[in-house]
Amino acid sequence: MKNIVLIGFMGTGKTSTGRLLAGRLNRTFIDIDKKIEMQTGLAISEIFQLYGENHFRQLERDVISRVSRYHNAVIATGGGVVLKQENMIRLKNTGIIIALTASLETILERTSRRGVRPLLDCEDRAERVAKLFNDRASLYMKADYTIDTTNMPPHHVAEKIIALL
Ligand code: S3P
Repeated sequence: MKNIVLIGFMGTGKTSTGRLLAGRLNRTFIDIDKKIEMQTGLAISEIFQLYGENHFRQLERDVISRVSRYHNAVIATGGGVVLKQENMIRLKNTGIIIALTASLETILERTSRRGVRPLLDCEDRAERVAKLFNDRASLYMKADYTIDTTNMPPHHVAEKIIALL
């Protein structure tokens, strides 16, 4: 059976939805960022700080390449996975891709905890979110399905995904 791959901007609920969905479907849950943290022994923010974004993107690509060989899993990706076309090709080959989205307001609220998302650790957070969101919008649209998670708790999003399958 195919993997279920969740993509989407930071704060759209990929990890919390993915964990619930995997539980409901009795599938293995894989969180790409968690795998990178386990592999390096560093938090994502530390990887960015010590080695920079390009290095993080390479680690991300390597993990994607490995987990694309899995079957039957629910995979939650990091928001920037869409930046490399090769990631998307790999993930599409073994899975159904579901993009989660949300309003900018919701994203800003859900990502307000500092120190977790290095790309948003800046003074002009709202501007940064809006720019990244617009820059990436067309990339997320390559998914097989899109679900708006604004005002929707993760268990409800998981139900919606189950209804799609
Ligand atoms: C990133 C999103 C983060 C994490 C890293 C980069 C991005 O994951 O992979 O900070 O480029 O959008 P989440 O989408 O789970 O926050």
